[in-house]
Amino acid sequence: MDIFEIIKSRRTIRRFSQEKLDRNLLIDLIEVARCAPAGANIQSLEYIIVDDPLAVSQVFQTLAWAGHVKPKRNPEVGQRPVAYIIVLTDTEIKKEAHVDAAAAIENMLLAAWSKEIGSCWLGSIDRIKLLDVLKINEKYQIDSVIALGKPAETPVMEDAGESTKYYLDDKDVLHVPKRPLSKILHINKF
Ligand SMILES: Cc1cc2nc3c(=O)[nH]c(=O)nc-3n(C[C@H](O)[C@H](O)[C@H](O)COP(=O)(O)O)c2cc1C
Repeated sequence: MDIFEIIKSRRTIRRFSQEKLDRNLLIDLIEVARCAPAGANIQSLEYIIVDDPLAVSQVFQTLAWAGHVKPKRNPEVGQRPVAYIIVLTDTEIKKEAHVDAAAAIENMLLAAWSKEIGSCWLGSIDRIKLLDVLKINEKYQIDSVIALGKPAETPVMEDAGESTKYYLDDKDVLHVPKRPLSKILHINKF
């Protein structure tokens, strides 16, 4: 797939096969995160790879899934992510780094998808619990959690009408409406 195809075909995955992921591949994802742009090139982000089964199950307990179709896309046992990347900000380096984190995270999601690894970017996290579970130093802020694994669902993107809420159809396929180009593109003037 060329880069445009990778970007267009990536969808958030919330059901995963239980095949393990190679640790080296997870490390490669941190390598592409490291290459992302950062404001003033001040780099406050650090990462925790979680692929030990006990820690994976503990991280799962801190996450909330797919609010618009709750609880239908809460991954059941046998469908849950097999690894996570926790994205941290060192607040002594930068107080607030959401934009830097977003750039790094998108690099990881796309690189993962180029290797047919599915992902879900999660911001709904019980951060206090997760700090404790992973023994994270208090100077770090948890920005996001990235759930990873081989996909066991095939969501579809479509042009949005009135609503941009994702929804499940009667075959349990997740539909992801995106605002069409005609609604968001302006050329030379507004
Ligand atoms: C900042 C951010 C936070 C998100 N947090 C969650 C979350 O906590 N739980 C979840 O299931 N999905 C979460 N998502 C995934 C979005 O729901 C998903 O990206 C959106 O529905 C569009 O689907 P797509 O990624 O397939 O284009 C988050 C995405 C972003 C960018």
